[in-house]
Formats: sequence, C-alpha cells, structure tokens
Amino acid sequence: MENFTFYTPTKVVFGKDSDRQVGNLIKEQNCKKVLVHYGGESARKSGLLDRVFQSLQENDIEYVQLGGVVPNPHLSLVYEGIELCKKEGVDFILAVGGGSVIDSAKAIGYGMTNDGDVWDFYAKKRQATACLPIGTILTIAAAGSEMSDSSVITKEEGWLKRGYSSNYCRAKFAIMNPELTYTLPPYQTASGCADILMHTMERYFNRAENMDMTDGIAEALMRTVIENAKTLKVNPTSYNARAEVMWAGSLSHNGLTGCGTDGGDWASHQLEHELGGMFDVAHGAGLAAIWGSWARYVYETHVERFAQFAVQVFGIECDTDLKVTALKGIEAMEEFYRYIDMPTSVHELGVDLTDEQIDELALKCSFGNTRTIGVIKKLGLEDIRKIYQMAR
Ligand code: NZQ
Ligand code: ZN
Repeated sequence: MENFTFYTPTKVVFGKDSDRQVGNLIKEQNCKKVLVHYGGESARKSGLLDRVFQSLQENDIEYVQLGGVVPNPHLSLVYEGIELCKKEGVDFILAVGGGSVIDSAKAIGYGMTNDGDVWDFYAKKRQATACLPIGTILTIAAAGSEMSDSSVITKEEGWLKRGYSSNYCRAKFAIMNPELTYTLPPYQTASGCADILMHTMERYFNRAENMDMTDGIAEALMRTVIENAKTLKVNPTSYNARAEVMWAGSLSHNGLTGCGTDGGDWASHQLEHELGGMFDVAHGAGLAAIWGSWARYVYETHVERFAQFAVQVFGIECDTDLKVTALKGIEAMEEFYRYIDMPTSVHELGVDLTDEQIDELALKCSFGNTRTIGVIKKLGLEDIRKIYQMAR
C-alpha cells in the first residue's frame, strides 16, 4: 500500500427533504451575500430553486442569482460570475445542480480570491492560493464534484476542456436528496452511473499492491452502482436505487477508493475530456464510449488486475488463462453499458470522427506531444491516436 492523505472536509446532509435545510446550513457559514448558481431549466421547473430562495429569505440571507450553466461549463459564464460577485460583494456560492454547475461555482470562487486570469489554473500556468467557500445542492449523481477537489471548465476559444484540482475548492457542505434526481432524463441517469463507475475504475486500475481494504470498497461500490443502474432503467423513481447511486457518486470521487493506490490511471478521463471539449458530449457517455477501446489496448500490460476486476465485479469464473478472464470482464462491462443504453463507440455518441479530427484530439490530449497519460500503460501521442481509432 502506498502512502496517502485522505481529506474530506465536506459536511454531507443526505436524504429526503434535506434541501430544506439549506438556509440553516448557509447561516452557519457567517457570510454576507450568496450567489445562487444554477444551470438551465431543471432546477426552476422542479420547484427546487423557489424552495432555495424561500429558505434563504426565511433565514434573512441576502443573495443574487446566476443561471445558465451548460454541461461542459463555459469559461465565459465563469468570467460573468466573477464580475457579478465582485459587484455585489458575494462571499459564498451555492451551486444548485450537477457537476457542471458545481465546477462553474468553484471556478468563480477561484476568480474571486486570486488575482489575474482564472484560466491560468486550468492551463496549468500557476496554482491558486484560495477559493470562496462553496455549498452545493446536488441534482444529479454523476461527477462527484460535491466532494471532490476538482473542477473542469471548457474554454470556448479552441474548445479546450481542462481540469484543475486543489483542496481550496472542496465544498463546505453537500446537500443530497435522492428524490431530486427523479426528474432526470434516463440518458443523464445512465451517463451519471457510467461516470461514477469510472471514478472508481480509474483508481482501481493502478499498479500499487496490497490494497485489500481499498479494493474491497472499490469492488463493492462498482457492484452497487451496476445493480442499481439496472434497477433505475426499469424503475427510475426507486428511492433506494437513487440513494445508493447518489451516495456511491460522492464516495467514488472523494478519494476513498484511491487510498493507497499510486493515484490511478485516469487515461479514459483524459481521452474523454478532449471529446467533451470538441463535441460537447455528456461526460459519462463519452467515458463509456472510450473505455472498452482503452481497456483492450492496455489490458495485457496488467492482466492480473483486469482478471481481478472480472471476477470480483462481474462474478466471472477465473480461467487458467488470465487473458481470457480479463477479456470476459471487459466484455461484461460493455454489455452493461449497452443494457443501460450507453454507447460503446464514438459513433454511437453521434460523432463520426475523421482522421484529421483524431489527429487533433490526440495532439490536444498529449498536450502537443509533451506528455503521456495513464499508469497501467503509459500512453503517448501514437497510443492515444490508436485508441481514438479503435473507439471511433
Ligand atoms: O442545466 P439543467 O437544466 O439543470 O440540466 C442538466 C444538464 O442538462 C440536467 N440535470 C441535472 N439535474 C437534473 C437535470 N435534469 C433534470 N432533473 C435534474 N434533477 O442534466 C444535464 C447534465 O448536468 P451536468 O451538471 O452537466 O452533469 P454532471 O454532473 O454529469 O457534470 C458533468 C460535468 O462535470 C465534469 C464533466 O467533465 C462535465 O463537465 N466533471 C467534473 C468532475 C469534478 N469536478 O470532480 C469530475 C468528473 O470526472 C467530470 O470530469
Ligand atoms: Zn468523470
């Protein structure tokens, strides 16, 4: 087991009606003015936003609002948010939505507390030294941003989607009412489940050893998400299935399933981020589309790990030839994706990649041929190009 630091400062308030506590939770933060940040129409339509405003008013909390966050959130709205917060004297941000809204809130928080252009952090030019405090009301179980240290923003100029991680942006609290996710379209529910699985799979596929505890948590989490994603396909208002998936979503990306690993692989995420930036696909669906090709390209370099995945997550009998077992595990994962109507190729995402587009994706993903991605197998520009070709 490798050395690690496990840090999860976020207070989780989970369960039915938990969103009604928002005013009280913000009051504990002793702030002067709140930005309520949200996405398109879903939070307004469901009545959630009205309940939030009511709870703030009941607690005499001043607020301003900024909606319009889109999936794969845009840098331009982040700039707009920073301007608004400066003008209004905002000192706390409440994100009402999913990963995109929370990530946009985190970026605004960085912009409020650091001089210069906030994009510098995402472009890896310098490090942030602070972030405004953030609270969240989660409306989709997926990205795990409610407990993670990350935020992912898309710069429209060049369609660059880039992540930035630091503990400063970790949410002060996360309100998680599984009932809020009943209104999700089935595609978003499934895409969220794919992303949750991938946050643990990225960590699970690593090269560290002796991680019985962490492996056990990770395998239980993956089995739980798979079972409950299947339930949600036929019964989208199963409270228990929504609750299992929502809690798994946070635990999958708060660091727990990575304790003692070497950090994990993360190549699939890097490959997807370029697809998301250029073609605006749903993040989890993009991961499902790429994962099988990544797995087939790399599995022989750590066949034991892929065989363990097959046996522990899908109950596949171990063959004397571990490669056979490993491949059965990859096939089982893809069969599951198909069952929940997730794509297993980029074509099924609605994108038919040209050779030129593959070159551009590979160049962007390798930061202009200056870095490799992944730890199961280190992937350079040529490897990345081949995986996009396999996945097209
Ligand atoms: O904008 P609205 O109308 O709210 O619609 C959203 C959006 O269209 C809708 N939605 C959300 N809650 C709903 C709902 N519709 C009906 N009922 C509800 N209760 O769902 C759509 C997707 O929302 P989004 O916030 O984009 O989803 P998700 O949570 O999957 O976030 C994706 C973003 O997070 C990034 C992704 O790259 C992507 O940009 N990630 C962030 C991470 C992090 N910060 O730690 C890690 C992840 O790996 C990921 O990269
Ligand atoms: Zn993800």
